[in-house]
Amino acid sequence: MNVGVVLVAAGSGQRLAAGGPKALVELAGRTLLAHAVDALAAAGLRPPVVVHPPGARAAFEAALAGRPLAALVPGGDTRTASVAAGLTALPEDVEVVAVHDAARALMPPEVLRACVAALTAGVVALAPALPVADTLKRVDGEVVVATVPRDGLVGVQTPQVFPRTVLTEVIELALAAGQPATDDLALVEQALAAGRLTGRVVVVPGSVRGRKITFPEDLALAAAWLAADAADAADAADASDAGVGA
Ligand code: C5P
Repeated sequence: MNVGVVLVAAGSGQRLAAGGPKALVELAGRTLLAHAVDALAAAGLRPPVVVHPPGARAAFEAALAGRPLAALVPGGDTRTASVAAGLTALPEDVEVVAVHDAARALMPPEVLRACVAALTAGVVALAPALPVADTLKRVDGEVVVATVPRDGLVGVQTPQVFPRTVLTEVIELALAAGQPATDDLALVEQALAAGRLTGRVVVVPGSVRGRKITFPEDLALAAAWLAADAADAADAADASDAGVGA
């Protein structure tokens, strides 16, 4: 199966308060966008279609200089419009599409690979997911209305993987109906519920490293992970030097 990747990075990043597109924020000397593109390459996936905020093409080109891309296209007002823009720029031979958030810049390559490999016969959409840790309450304003049992609940991440025909159809329907979604999997679930599609939507194990970088605290956490990785790598190099000398 030929797998294509749409890397959506057209969000404003207002919650990160970085004064520009979130994907161009630096983390340990590289932009979030570069981290995400490099992880896809490390997973052995084909160069992605990168969807940038309208008006930010030059800055994205500069941030990605030297990295192979399938295309660089402007996104839209909604995530669904941005995914649609990315889909149209995929090479024709692509049969399976992985939609990944640039904001999940540190999703490990092995999880990226496992997600793509999990699109087996009968699966029409999948996402990496993690169990929910917090107790969940439904509220009306400040008033607690119900406790939502945590059993069987997961939080989904990206990359979300689909047969190309399925994703193209549900995205077109959502845009035509004026009902975009912030989660691409949800569009497939709606098509299944409406009887327009058959198959299964499944989850595979996600990673805490795939946390979406949304708020400044998320960026600080990501920086701490990378610093710990660098310290581990330095320790391992020291140990191996000591081994060589012994
Ligand atoms: O806003 P949120 O954090 O949910 O966005 C998730 C991902 O979708 C981000 O990588 C963001 O850049 C992308 N996005 C997009 N186009 C939009 C809105 C979000 O590409 N209109």
